[in-house]
Amino acid sequence: MGRKRLSDIPNLEGYGVFVDGIDFQHLTREEWKELGMLHMKKPVMVIRNTGLKRQHFHKLMKIWGRDRQNYAATLFAKYPWANKDRHKLMDSPEVTDHEKAILKEYDKIGGNTSGAVLRVCGDGTGLFAHGELLWHSNESGDIAFTPGVALLGDHGMTESATGFMVTTPYYYSLSESMRSELDEMVLVHNFQDGKINVEGENNLLYKNMCPEPDTEIPLVIQSPGGIKGLHFPYNTTTRIKDYPIEESVRLLNEIRWGLDKYTYDYWWENDDDLLIFDNSIVQHRRLGDTSNRLCHRYQFDYTYLCYTLTRKPYQPYLQEPYISRYIDRMKTVKLTF
Ligand SMILES: [Fe+2]
Repeated sequence: MGRKRLSDIPNLEGYGVFVDGIDFQHLTREEWKELGMLHMKKPVMVIRNTGLKRQHFHKLMKIWGRDRQNYAATLFAKYPWANKDRHKLMDSPEVTDHEKAILKEYDKIGGNTSGAVLRVCGDGTGLFAHGELLWHSNESGDIAFTPGVALLGDHGMTESATGFMVTTPYYYSLSESMRSELDEMVLVHNFQDGKINVEGENNLLYKNMCPEPDTEIPLVIQSPGGIKGLHFPYNTTTRIKDYPIEESVRLLNEIRWGLDKYTYDYWWENDDDLLIFDNSIVQHRRLGDTSNRLCHRYQFDYTYLCYTLTRKPYQPYLQEPYISRYIDRMKTVKLTF
């Protein structure tokens, strides 16, 4: 595997790791899976100087888990007669204009390519083209959000940063009684304009990060690696269920304040760095200059790593009715590719 070196990412309290010295040209499947098992314990992984290109990247990520794009999956499931054929959907009067617009945008940014590896870039042909992005997680208001994201740089990366916020150290810094209070809490999610992109541009896809208004999702959940933490995405969280509004605002602000120090902004050092991060209990953001920047995004579940670890599919929730709701929604989401 070359001379692999691991080091802790500052501020993430052991939940983030830098990986250097991997020779991807000679890396075996077993060595890659071993790195995957390490990622299950370290939800933020920054692999520097990979020398990887898009195709090789996609092949590697598929070893850890399957592609996931919940929006496309939902649309395909709604119109089963189209058999996942975009042309059939575009030509049908049954499909709404809004859905067609999203489909068009999705194709423009790479959704129709193998594995739906999306372009994230600044030339108007990608997702989130311009500017900085605030703390968020993807598909965050969907009870069956995709749990993993991988970003491979292509070019123009080094003037920008991808930031990470881990929630587990904060959770375990609280008293046992406070933790059990949080364990019972359920957050209510809604799409909120301008909560991710500070320049005010909203992709249609982004508007579908919370497809159902007032979606209820427990605050404390577990990652695919079984790590307990908070699913508290700032982009779609509106309030705590069954709490008076002032109390809800006060408590959520207190948690935000507590989470603040468990963050790290990784300023891209090389155009071919690979960032792989959990999307269940970790939030991310973007800083810096994104003009002439291109990276490839692969969203995935952790299917194969989960099976290796637990012999069971991923279940983020620790209580009913959310466990059952998740299983139910997954029946739709799994049908995508
Ligand atoms: Fe994102």
